[in-house]
Amino acid sequence: MSAPVVIAVDGTAACGKGTLARLLARHYGFAHLDSGALYRLVALGVIEANGDPSTEADAVKAARAIDPARATDPIIRSDVVGRAASQVAALVAVRRELFDYQREFAARPPRGAEGAVIDGRDISTVIAPDATAKLFVDARPEVRAHRRWLELQAMGIVRDEADVLAELNIRDAADRNRPISPLKQAVDAALLDTSDLGIDAAFAAALALLDHKVKAALAARHRG
Ligand code: CDP
Repeated sequence: MSAPVVIAVDGTAACGKGTLARLLARHYGFAHLDSGALYRLVALGVIEANGDPSTEADAVKAARAIDPARATDPIIRSDVVGRAASQVAALVAVRRELFDYQREFAARPPRGAEGAVIDGRDISTVIAPDATAKLFVDARPEVRAHRRWLELQAMGIVRDEADVLAELNIRDAADRNRPISPLKQAVDAALLDTSDLGIDAAFAAALALLDHKVKAALAARHRG
């Protein structure tokens, strides 16, 4: 049987890529990996150990100790952890620690799934450059800030929306400008702007961009 089908979903902070990746995984019966959660778990480990997220020794120690099973823990979703995640993510040694886990997820999706949907910043460019289908998701900064503000509010974290916007812009700039694995649209990734789309419309738009590639890859897999 040929290699699993891999859908790579990259994009800016709070653009909706996580929700889209989850829906795509459910639609196709694939496994889903939120790679941002791995960096957030590293950040949480550093914070819990009273370490410094930009110090390699502290971050690598935390990266070696993460438990990916905790990826759904709501504690990692806070803006404080997000900020620290962006700092640990800029360290080559941290990215190296998380590389094999992500590659293995793509090569052998859990529970024998036929494919994997992985979302993050460098999935199309570094983790799965040969992915079956690639999506780059974005939305206007003000729209993303409003969505993240609502998310934080639902978690009981009250923030000024202007501060949330400023933080997203700072984090995106850091992610785009770092020398290693920067956030960028791969040349062969389809662009999806979700600024004016609700979840259902964004999912339909994603399917319209990817479905032919995914179906063709699944058909090839079943043939041989
Ligand atoms: O949910 P949100 O879009 O705000 O962020 P996330 O996907 O959870 O990622 C948190 C941080 O982890 C990002 O700002 C990146 O710095 C880093 N990250 C990365 O460098 N590479 C990835 N593949 C995923 C996340």
